[in-house]
Amino acid sequence: MNNDAIGVFDSGVGGLTAVSELNKILPNENIIYFGDTARIPYGSRSRETVLKYANEDIAFLKKHKIKMIIAACGTVSSVIGTNVLVDDMPFTGVLLPAAQAACSNTKNGRIGVIGTPATIRSGSFAKAIKTIRPGTVVVGNPCPLFVHLVENGYTDRDNKITKMVAAEYLAPMKAEGVDTLILGCTHYPIIKDIIADYMGEDVTLISSGKEAAKYAEICLVEKNLLTDRTENGHNTFYVSDSTELFEENAKNFLGTKINGEIFSSNL
Ligand code: DGL
Repeated sequence: MNNDAIGVFDSGVGGLTAVSELNKILPNENIIYFGDTARIPYGSRSRETVLKYANEDIAFLKKHKIKMIIAACGTVSSVIGTNVLVDDMPFTGVLLPAAQAACSNTKNGRIGVIGTPATIRSGSFAKAIKTIRPGTVVVGNPCPLFVHLVENGYTDRDNKITKMVAAEYLAPMKAEGVDTLILGCTHYPIIKDIIADYMGEDVTLISSGKEAAKYAEICLVEKNLLTDRTENGHNTFYVSDSTELFEENAKNFLGTKINGEIFSSNL
């Protein structure tokens, strides 16, 4: 048993997909979240810069009492591949949980991966999928505009611009007949309806943030690190830019007011 918080970080609001799932499956746990909103996007930066930012985000989380770290960012997770960024507590990114879920789901052995340019360039999802399920065909495509569309609230199911951009990015996936599509960037679930409408109902979408949260639960159970708190846990959010902007984006993102206190903090 351990009553310390679960530490979660992302470049912005995307990691809230993992927090929502954690709140659902582990309601008694405290969550400390860091969103590096002053330096988003990570996905168009070099490997060296992404690693530097990720290590700084982790150093920030470690100033608090935490028992596990989730890198709820597809870019960080892909850049580190199967490596871990901490060795003194459990750690997970979104890569392996999402790859595992996609491999369990596919019937035809054809999996699509969409993510930031850094994520797709790393080739980490394809490598992980082919290790778990040799012979799988993996089709990857970077979707650099999605993060900006999401951060700017172009998220309605009928939004013409986002629908047009989605059709452009997703056409190769459709042409290859994938039956499973990994949303390899934690921002993408917010436009999942637009993605699903284009891909059709036979294609299963895998939310990488959600899968990472499910994996974190398994990890905490295995290591006997779950809280014994019986009342609901608290979420505490830290961001490197304005709290107001984060709150507004998060509301767009979650469709509801953010559940927890938000503080602005320099790294
Ligand atoms: N949430 C980040 C990810 O999953 C995307 C945003 C960014 O480019 O920083 O890759």
